[in-house]
Amino acid sequence: MAKSSYQAPRGTLDLLPSQARARQRVERVAATILGRAGYEPIATPIFEDTDLFERGVGRSTDIVRKEMFTFEDKGGRSITLRPEGTAPICRAYLEHGMHKLAQPVKLFYRGPFFRHERPQAGRYRQFHQIGLETIGTDSPLADAEAIMLLADLLAELAVPGVELRLGSLGSPDSRAAYLEELKAYLRSHEGELSKDVRERIDLNPLRAFDADDEETRAVMVGAPTIVERLDGEDAKHFAEVRALLEADGVPYRVDPTLVRGLDYYTRTIFSFVCAGLGAQSEVGGGGRYDGLIEQLGGPSTPAVGWAVGIERILLAMGDNSAPVVRDAFLAAADDDQRQRAMALAIELRHAGLSAEVDLAGRGLKGQLKHANRIGARHVLIFAADGSLQMRDMKTGEQRPVAPSHVLDELSK
Ligand code: HAM
Repeated sequence: MAKSSYQAPRGTLDLLPSQARARQRVERVAATILGRAGYEPIATPIFEDTDLFERGVGRSTDIVRKEMFTFEDKGGRSITLRPEGTAPICRAYLEHGMHKLAQPVKLFYRGPFFRHERPQAGRYRQFHQIGLETIGTDSPLADAEAIMLLADLLAELAVPGVELRLGSLGSPDSRAAYLEELKAYLRSHEGELSKDVRERIDLNPLRAFDADDEETRAVMVGAPTIVERLDGEDAKHFAEVRALLEADGVPYRVDPTLVRGLDYYTRTIFSFVCAGLGAQSEVGGGGRYDGLIEQLGGPSTPAVGWAVGIERILLAMGDNSAPVVRDAFLAAADDDQRQRAMALAIELRHAGLSAEVDLAGRGLKGQLKHANRIGARHVLIFAADGSLQMRDMKTGEQRPVAPSHVLDELSK
């Protein structure tokens, strides 16, 4: 006997038509905004060699340590469902020789990503991102443009209560010196830190700024920040990004304790948070990753990018799904007329209107009721004698119409 209690796997979402429509709209708006700025779509596989993420995202990150869906394929290779898109795009950039194209290469993508996290509102095991990557330039203009495009997207979608936080991690050298200073500070307060933070003083001291634990937070209030320690070139780069954002009227707040959960970031990092989202308050974020492509075996190539969570955008927007437009329903009195109805529906669809016919074998009365239920604006009724009537469902007005005039009448 068939089991009747199947459910979607834990941490996954079914998008029913109204939500799937809302998501389509988000994707359409993004494609328009990014397309106008010259970003081209790209798509990479849903799974990759595990090593790509271990190297790219970083072995000390939560993503790699705890959250990857990793399995062995039938050939004994270790495969991982992609937890993020930047490492795969850099892989594709190198694999397809895009470093030989005119730089920067400007790309955007969307699709599902997978992280084995504890599910809660705004946090899923399969979620969807729209992402952007600008590869092959270290100009602060690229950072500013990336940030402005994400700000534009969120504004165009009218996501309420969005705030931009900005930070800089400096370059690997200045960061290394800073990290030593931070480790020393953490060690001098070891007794006050949470177990998790204490255990990772050497592995990932920056995560201490992210801790939820009260005592750890109190210690971190006095901790040195990287923004105070940026060296000449890094400080100049950061100042330029800030000046560009200010010149374009993009409000932001410098957050000297901003950290991100991926290891590849250098210099600029940013996060768009939304008060209405609760614990998972980030809608999107990203930053510069000047060392990643070299890390993956390519030439030294600076790059910057971001990703936003589509589910988080939809959560923040609330339910504002637009109603579906149904221009016409074509009803038929009998089987002969059904064929004519279908032929006319196809013609209307080719002309760009939405047109439906009965697929459930309803009688004429049932078809009219159904047309009303789905909110069709007009019903075209093919009577048994072959005549055609058009009814305006708003006014109730009904009159004869020639099939060759239907398109004109509906387009009025
Ligand atoms: P990320 O911050 O890990 O960055 O993820 C970006 C966005 O994906 C988050 O702001 C959030 O909206 C969404 N997200 C992440 N995890 C989940 C989850 N479990 N459930 C729902 N939504 C989630 C990256 O992935 C980088 N690749 C961004 C980037 C691109 N940096 C440079 N280029």
